[in-house]
Amino acid sequence: MFNSFGEIFRFTTFGESHGKAIGVVIDGVPAGLEFDERFLQSELDRRKPGKNRFATARKESDTAEVLSGVFEGKTTGTPIAIVIFNKDQKSKDYSNIKDIFRPGHADFTYWHKYGIRDYRGGGRSSARETAARVAAGAIAKMILNELGIEVKAGVIEIGGIRAEKEDYQYAKTSPLFALDENTEKEWISLIDKKRNEHDSLGGVVKLKIENLPVGLGEPVYYKLDNVLASAMVSINAVKGVYIGNKDAHKLTGSQNNDEIGKDGFLSNNSGGVLGGISNGESVEAEIYFKPTPSIFKKQKSIDIYGNEVEVDLKGRHDPIVAIRGSVVVEAMAACVIADMLLLNMTRKMEFLKKIYQ
Ligand SMILES: Cc1cc2nc3c(=O)[nH]c(=O)nc-3n(C[C@H](O)[C@H](O)[C@H](O)COP(=O)(O)O)c2cc1C
Repeated sequence: MFNSFGEIFRFTTFGESHGKAIGVVIDGVPAGLEFDERFLQSELDRRKPGKNRFATARKESDTAEVLSGVFEGKTTGTPIAIVIFNKDQKSKDYSNIKDIFRPGHADFTYWHKYGIRDYRGGGRSSARETAARVAAGAIAKMILNELGIEVKAGVIEIGGIRAEKEDYQYAKTSPLFALDENTEKEWISLIDKKRNEHDSLGGVVKLKIENLPVGLGEPVYYKLDNVLASAMVSINAVKGVYIGNKDAHKLTGSQNNDEIGKDGFLSNNSGGVLGGISNGESVEAEIYFKPTPSIFKKQKSIDIYGNEVEVDLKGRHDPIVAIRGSVVVEAMAACVIADMLLLNMTRKMEFLKKIYQ
């Protein structure tokens, strides 16, 4: 249950880390959208594992096969199904944790909830599932691109060290999706140090959505900010989201309020959302990722029979999940905005008249 996200632009993902395939079915995509299959693949390539030492060494081409919903280069308005076959499973690496709960991972809760679990590579709890989200996000971005809306993200903090600038152009080519080339050097030495200590690190991703119209977001229970936060916390390992100025709670009203001038807002502490509705400023948010739970340090745990054990992990893991997580943040944000755009079309008589009169 609950493998779907969105109201009109709605996607459902399926598959496990070491199963045959993962994939996504996206419903609600308007007919006639130019479908750029190369762009879809390039988005998956940004997230795919095995590219450098800052990602898990699992080698997957993450080649997307589009099964339906596209004809002669355009969407047909029918569900778009995309499958990605798993190629590089090494399930043997997980046989020693078959009956053991990895600290920080979902093994304990999956076992107690379902009484059965695909332990190979984390099964459904593996972030392999996020490749399917990135495929959905690529289609959402195709819609947004046509409307001139840009979703971008990059890593702003690793291991408590914060970037000094936000260079989204640099983030595109950086192996860490880093927003600051100088801080990146510090991050790299810290990551290497922690890797040598068989440990992992947490990090923060900054999200920015530009050129949004005023009016996206449905008060009261489908606010732009509450749905965005929900989308972000649905990503594996995300523990927090801040919309707008993350220090707002330390400010006074007069410092925090965004005053308004003839040409728009004079600041953007709100992060582009007021009353749950986009105000035309950039939507800005920070997404907080915990450190990768699977580490190669011995840790205490129990097995499914309640015996105390020492966990000694094998397998391949991301040293810090916020890096590839940054691509997933963009994808989920794009899906939220595509959904909000479609929802907003029903909110005014003048919109209906434009279509039907
Ligand atoms: C892109 C991405 C890659 C991840 N890679 C790993 C990994 O290699 N090893 C691991 O133990 N956890 C990894 N995680 C985190 C786990 O999937 C996550 O911590 C686990 O499912 C438990 O869920 P929770 O942390 O949200 O409670 C990754 C998360 C993301 C977003």
